[in-house]
Amino acid sequence: MLIETCGLCKVYGVTVAVDHLTLAVGEGEVFGFLGPNGAGKTTTIKMLLGLATPTAGQARILGRLPGDPAVMGQIGFLPEQFRFPPWITAADFLDVHGRLYGLSAAERRRRSAQLLARVGLADRGRSKLGEFSKGMLQRIGLAQALLSRPRLVILDEPTSGLDPLGRREVRDLIHELRADGVTVFLNSHFLSEVEVTCDRIAIIKRGRVVRLGTLAELTRQRAEVEIVAAGMTPEIEAGLTQWGRIVQRLAPAEAATPPDAGHLILAVADEAVAPQVACYLVQAGARLHMLAPRRLSLEELFLRVMEEET
Ligand SMILES: Nc1ncnc2c1ncn2[C@@H]1O[C@H](COP(=O)(O)OP(=O)(O)OP(=O)(O)O)[C@@H](O)[C@H]1O
Ligand SMILES: [Mg+2]
Repeated sequence: MLIETCGLCKVYGVTVAVDHLTLAVGEGEVFGFLGPNGAGKTTTIKMLLGLATPTAGQARILGRLPGDPAVMGQIGFLPEQFRFPPWITAADFLDVHGRLYGLSAAERRRRSAQLLARVGLADRGRSKLGEFSKGMLQRIGLAQALLSRPRLVILDEPTSGLDPLGRREVRDLIHELRADGVTVFLNSHFLSEVEVTCDRIAIIKRGRVVRLGTLAELTRQRAEVEIVAAGMTPEIEAGLTQWGRIVQRLAPAEAATPPDAGHLILAVADEAVAPQVACYLVQAGARLHMLAPRRLSLEELFLRVMEEET
């Protein structure tokens, strides 16, 4: 495991920022670490890197204690709020960080040019960071995180401030890192991106893990079956409850339904029940216009998890 935490806690005064967090991230995984503002994501990352001391519990990163100089060179980090010196040029900024990683002058030059191009700043190497836009700074921060060809990259909101093209580029970059076997620990509020980039996801709420698994695992048990049918009676509807709960009835104007048909959504434990539901409706005498299983998107799942009492 490249990252392992066990009962990790951080308390600031009366605020419990991280509350008995236990998780493990394996080599080569792209791991999404999600949660609402103030859930404890950045605090966890700080503890993983040795930038904050846990109140209780343990963390291991690349098999070592956080902050161990023996492994810090193998970890790339994009902080949430990078403080960029405004007077330095982009190329010099990367050069300074390359020195911190102990790269040779030739390697620094090569990596710096490569990474500037990789983040779309090939022609801005000589510009001062004080002249950069928010998204350009975010891009140079990303280049910095990849300088040492790290085994593990920790990205705290890598796409915040980026335009749609930049977000797409970061997504492609993460795919490339994965293809190279690099492990990525990613915290992002752009759930549609997390959906397409992450192998596994943890959702945390008030410092605690409330969901953990692959996207399929997390969304499969929360599937829905959308039904458009005419001739529905209260008895037929009651029979549907053997598979789940009717969660929504769309008004005819809202849904593109034939005038005599009703439109409803059935929350089910498993999308695999859809054919049985179809069969039941037809045999019960309903005239079925449409029946479609639908998994929740990550965003819908996230919002539902946030509504749950915990
Ligand atoms: N240095 C600190 N001193 C006191 N409280 C802190 C400190 N750092 C974080 N906290 C508190 O810990 C909690 C978790 O904060 P954290 O920054 O980890 O959240 P986050 O999940 O990264 O949120 P966001 O999505 O907004 O970045 C918050 O209640 C925050 O106020
Ligand atoms: Mg944060």
